Amino acid sequence: MSGLKNRNMSKMIKGFSKLKKAEKIDWLAENFFFEKEKGIETLKQYVNKDAELQQLHDEFIENTISNFYVPYAIAPNFLINGKSYAIPMAIEESSVVAAAALTAKFWSSRGGFKATVISTTKVGQVHFTYAGSKQSLEEYFLSVKSHLILATDHITANMRKRGGGIIDIELRDRTDAMENYYQLHVTFETGDSMGANFINSCLETIAESFQKEGIFVVMSILSNYVPQCLVRAEVSCKVEEFFPENAETYARKFVQAVEIAKVEPYRAVTHNKGIMNGIDAVVLATGNDFRAVAAGAHAYACKDGQYTSLTQAEIVDGKFNFSIEIPLSLGTVGGLTKLHPLAKLSMEILQNPTASELMQIVAVAGLAQNFAALRALTTTGIQQGHMKMHLMNILNQLEANVHEKELITEAFRGKTVSHSAIAEYLHLLRTGH
Ligand code: MEV
Repeated sequence: MSGLKNRNMSKMIKGFSKLKKAEKIDWLAENFFFEKEKGIETLKQYVNKDAELQQLHDEFIENTISNFYVPYAIAPNFLINGKSYAIPMAIEESSVVAAAALTAKFWSSRGGFKATVISTTKVGQVHFTYAGSKQSLEEYFLSVKSHLILATDHITANMRKRGGGIIDIELRDRTDAMENYYQLHVTFETGDSMGANFINSCLETIAESFQKEGIFVVMSILSNYVPQCLVRAEVSCKVEEFFPENAETYARKFVQAVEIAKVEPYRAVTHNKGIMNGIDAVVLATGNDFRAVAAGAHAYACKDGQYTSLTQAEIVDGKFNFSIEIPLSLGTVGGLTKLHPLAKLSMEILQNPTASELMQIVAVAGLAQNFAALRALTTTGIQQGHMKMHLMNILNQLEANVHEKELITEAFRGKTVSHSAIAEYLHLLRTGH
């Protein structure tokens, strides 16, 4: 046991960040790779040949040793508010892009998607404790409120020119939840930027100016919960247009599937995960923060006390209506959006949207993904489409060559795909028995 501990301790290192990239890789290979040369070669394969471009990526984070690729794809034929889009998606999961493309085509002949931004307000908070009387705190807050806003003038000047800035600062009493706990709850408009750095800089400046005996600031940070940065996307068609056969039965089943996700959290999590397949892929492709978006979306899904579906479906007067309402804090300027060359290209592909337009596009991608999942789940089942797309992953795992891939893809067209069935078929091809 102690020998094991010592062996593990020897894998610790001081000053790793100060090593040159090659030294970092050497240390890593020496201590962790099973096959040193092979591991180093794999890292090298993923390094960009263009040294300048590689350096750009290296400098996004610390301790970079290579790049980690995620496929970058396009889901064309989205009609949103009458305008057509080809949506870039960065995602590793088979079938997500195919599902998006199929759904886009389906709805483009049924009027397309409608999307509306409901609000764009973002939030940040200075969390602090105060043991004195609430009245004295309120009096102090009111006496310095305008000064707190003024103190951020140098940070907000540019944002104000673009119509953004601080909307309001509120003193919130949270002593019901935690002893002596109060907040400055600050609301912001951040225009076309996601605004994380802007919000955090404003908050830290506000906190510095909010000084009174007995006030202890714990931290100042934006919130990724943005229920007032909200977008809605929807589709609608006559029930008889929903499916080629038994349209009404399938439309009802679809609505039931959404109802189940509304009342059953175990299902709601998977239902919303499917929505996030579409959302995160576009958020990532546009250089936005998909962790922030995911955290905010899931929090919104339990805003009424129980985790529930982010989408709604109904049949009213012979019409099938399907919609999503989701908080999305996104930017089309700032952050990686223009710095990462592929994110910049994604913006170009999306015809350089404003942040509000991007919110609409992303919400549509989420709704489309949920539509595709529920349509498959309530008709053929999910595995048919999934395994069809997963076929290439299986073939690659089995190291099938181009010819074998062609033969097997053809042989399994329309058939159920499983790992063992493919392995058996490949064995048959290779050995004749
Ligand atoms: C898989 O990534 C996503 C689904 O499970 C979503 C769903 O069940 O609605 C297919």
